[in-house]
Amino acid sequence: MSTALRTTGSASANPTQTTQHAGSSSTALRVEEVVLTYPDGRGRVTAVDSVSLTIERGRSLAVTGPSGSGKSSLLAVSATLTRPDSGQVMLQTPDVLVDLATIDRTRAAELRRTEIGIVFQQSNLLDSLTAREQLEAMAWLGARPSRAARHAARTRAEDLLDVVGLGDMAGRPVGALSGGQRQRVAVARALMGKPSLVLADEPTSALDSESGAAVMDLLLGTTRDLGVALMLVTHDAGLAARCDEQITVVDGAVV
Ligand SMILES: Nc1ncnc2c1ncn2[C@@H]1O[C@H](COP(=O)(O)OP(=O)(O)OP(=O)(O)O)[C@@H](O)[C@H]1O
Ligand SMILES: [Mg+2]
Repeated sequence: MSTALRTTGSASANPTQTTQHAGSSSTALRVEEVVLTYPDGRGRVTAVDSVSLTIERGRSLAVTGPSGSGKSSLLAVSATLTRPDSGQVMLQTPDVLVDLATIDRTRAAELRRTEIGIVFQQSNLLDSLTAREQLEAMAWLGARPSRAARHAARTRAEDLLDVVGLGDMAGRPVGALSGGQRQRVAVARALMGKPSLVLADEPTSALDSESGAAVMDLLLGTTRDLGVALMLVTHDAGLAARCDEQITVVDGAVV
């Protein structure tokens, strides 16, 4: 893998920066006593019930459990997509330790561009863009990038497409790629911002077992090589067993 793909810190001034540490020096994500409820008629349903977990850099955690047990809710909280009712979601980046449970939407969006990669069951790509453009577009989501930043984005996009085995399809619209190829583009896109954390919610469940295994190899291999912490939500016990750690959630709680 090219050295250009190694995770490197990017300095950024940030009011939420603290000097405390997430835990051990290699902890990337520490979820502490997180509770998430949703409105349910006149009451509330508890989707995440006092969950605590940690994931170290370069390590993977599988989250399994029955349908409706709160796996996607836990992932959404860790992804800044949903704010929990209580608890801490501490993300350690190369620069800062930040509690994702307390940040505003602007900061959350910024972290999703730079520190948190997300892969969903459906790849959520824009069919008319080429594979390379899907990745390059990540560089446009913040401020308008400089010429040098655009050049760097193109180089990184091409390197990542090589890593996921799609180097020769960089110029092809993703609408003309197979499901497995699209999902590999989605993995590459999740890695584009050099994240500290990648969250994947059943990324292979829409794929046949062969393409699913290839995407899984890729996710586990790239996150390990790049020192990225991976949370993988899956129904598949075989896939879960390939992760470094596993937890099972039932009724929102880790059992
Ligand atoms: N936006 C929402 N509004 C209200 N309730 C919700 C919402 N999203 C999820 N829930 C409820 O929260 C609980 C957990 O849902 P969640 O989607 O996290 O489960 P899951 O484990 O991911 O299930 P699946 O395996 O089917 O994807 C369920 O009872 C669900 O009905
Ligand atoms: Mg789910």
